[in-house]
Amino acid sequence: MKKKIIVTGGTGYIGSHTLIELIKNGEFEPIAVDSCVRSTPETIQRVEAITGVRVKHYQVDICDKNAFFNVFELEKEVVGIIHFAAFKCVPESVEKPLMYYHNNLQSLENVLEACEKFQLQYLIFSSSASIYGDVKELPVTENTPVGIPFCPYAHTKQIGEQMIHFFTQQHPHLQSVILRYFNPVGNDMSGLNGELSPDKPNNLMPIVTQVGIGKMKQLTVFGTDYDTRDGSCIRDYIHVCDIADAHVKALLFLENQKNTSRCETFNLGSGNGVSVLEMIDAFEKVNGIKLNYVLGERRPGDVPAIYSDSTRANQLLGWECRYGINEMVESAWKWEKHLAQEH
Ligand code: UD1
Repeated sequence: MKKKIIVTGGTGYIGSHTLIELIKNGEFEPIAVDSCVRSTPETIQRVEAITGVRVKHYQVDICDKNAFFNVFELEKEVVGIIHFAAFKCVPESVEKPLMYYHNNLQSLENVLEACEKFQLQYLIFSSSASIYGDVKELPVTENTPVGIPFCPYAHTKQIGEQMIHFFTQQHPHLQSVILRYFNPVGNDMSGLNGELSPDKPNNLMPIVTQVGIGKMKQLTVFGTDYDTRDGSCIRDYIHVCDIADAHVKALLFLENQKNTSRCETFNLGSGNGVSVLEMIDAFEKVNGIKLNYVLGERRPGDVPAIYSDSTRANQLLGWECRYGINEMVESAWKWEKHLAQEH
């Protein structure tokens, strides 16, 4: 029998791609729990179109403890949770800090309570490279000190990690993995599932594709006078399907008792720094289109360069990136075109 895994945020960007990877792996039965305040229930159909499997979805806000716990009562025999559900927009978190503290921390508290009440064995938590703040040394390893949080969003991830550390110390039945993502981009290679960005996206890739399709007029490169090889900022972009795959590998790692502590932490990045101008160039070349972009001022709060050392995940999880920059820009564009056809 397949092992039941609750995927909170299962209709979101990384969550839905993780449903696909879990189904492909075959050992687990993912069950999505998502209020769909930042996603849509139709994602379940998209996942079905790709995998042929209809994932069960509970449209429940996990901040509503009774409703959330009810899912476990109904499902029975759940062995673990992959916890994605959270708000993740940096500028919004600066504008509405309490909304972020409430949503991201109340939900995690309920997840941990569920782990206790239903005696779950596995917890995988979505964290972010933003917890490192302004790093002094590159590449970033898991031993790089956690920095001063530059926004409430990053702070909720720092607090979340600490909550899991302290909680697992007291609950030997629970083994956990914290995954710190760098810059997830791209979509399912089929072009049938992908990120549903807000009307005004903040992240580079959705802006690139929206400019490409004409939803947005122009892309501004934020800063070309950084001390980097071409003057624009360098980030560690990683294909979302590789991020999703790491969650399956993390579950298997715990299941096979390869962990040496009850709370293990891994960076998830490609290990390659790519500049904004290089990303634009790859997008144009691979997809054969010209982007309307201008060189502009620096965006406040941006660090010049950050990229990961993911050796720990490579070695201990047996995980490696299958996709490079070309697949990232190709799949991002495929999805944007698919969305345009749908509407
Ligand atoms: C941001 C978040 C980070 C989060 C990550 C998720 C901040 C400070 N950090 O990272 O916490 O985990 O998204 O993917 O917001 N750029 C442009 N023009 C644009 C948009 C972006 O040049 O219109 C540049 C930025 O200056 C940056 C790079 O593209 O150098 C990537 O930006 P973005 O996608 O927003 O990600 P981060 O800021 O790295």
